Amino acid sequence: MKKIAVFTSGGDAPGMNACIRAVVRSSLFYGLQVYGIYKGYNGMIAGEIKELHSQSVSNIIQRGGTILKSARSEEFKTKEGRAKAYENLKTHGIEGLVAIGGNGTFTGAELFHAEYGIPIVGVPGTIDNDLYGTDYTLGFDTAVNTALEAIDKIRDTADSHDRVFFIEVMGRDSGYIAMECGIGGGAEIVLIPERDDSIDNVISTLRDGFNRSKTSSIVIVAEGEEIGNANSIARLVKNKLKQLDIRVTTLGHIQRGGAPSGYDRTLGSRLGLAAVEGLMKGMSNVMAGMVNNQLIYTPFGDTIRKKKQINQDLMRLVQILSI
Ligand code: F6P
Repeated sequence: MKKIAVFTSGGDAPGMNACIRAVVRSSLFYGLQVYGIYKGYNGMIAGEIKELHSQSVSNIIQRGGTILKSARSEEFKTKEGRAKAYENLKTHGIEGLVAIGGNGTFTGAELFHAEYGIPIVGVPGTIDNDLYGTDYTLGFDTAVNTALEAIDKIRDTADSHDRVFFIEVMGRDSGYIAMECGIGGGAEIVLIPERDDSIDNVISTLRDGFNRSKTSSIVIVAEGEEIGNANSIARLVKNKLKQLDIRVTTLGHIQRGGAPSGYDRTLGSRLGLAAVEGLMKGMSNVMAGMVNNQLIYTPFGDTIRKKKQINQDLMRLVQILSI
């Protein structure tokens, strides 16, 4: 293998730049030529491909977002789109790919590999931390810290006004961000899709707190929570507990930006090197991840289809501490 390319796809995540840098620098270290594909699969289809050099990735390790830009590509879901993408890779002589992204990215990669046989190694990059085959995904740690900073601030105003705040955090189908924010932010209630929650429980917990003279409360709601979003849950609670002064905050995309934490910089760097070394060893159709601080490669099929189990100890902790 002489030429490889790297791209970022799906939602951007802090630490992606550290990973791009590691892919570029380790490729050069091993004497490979390395290309950057811009805007994810869309750029692969449109031929937005440029050679990267050591200086191309200078001064980016500390930056959030992705210098390669990202997209969620509809066109890559079509046979014609993938055919165009393959032609562009062939034109540049690219023989291997490093795909940094989440579930959708690896679903596309698995299909592309099945059709064209091009070796692809993935790196888990999503703030949601919902990928099987790694304890942490790039950006999760930073997103939790960003959300915690906001939650701490909300707590000040909640306490000053004796209010209940419903705070919605990201996590399309998962409660990892919510759970860690609940623990770190000292929330009274955490609602996540991995558990069967009920409005009645939320109401009785808040009522009990109120009866025990609790003056303010924080309820963290994961975006993917099945009983509703923060606004609709807050409305239902207000209908039953009219005495509560309730406000809602949705943290949104603020959680995706900002300088990556030290953890995400190291994780991105380690997995970037692991992806390049994986390709050089002839691996393909796998994601590099860290489980118990050990590097492992998991087939895309498993990362896509197996459900990463939420840590039961943390669930228990949330339950015990949020009384
Ligand atoms: O990348 C993950 C994520 O931030 C989810 O938590 C969220 O549901 C989704 O992306 C939002 O995607 P978009 O930025 O495309 O609206």
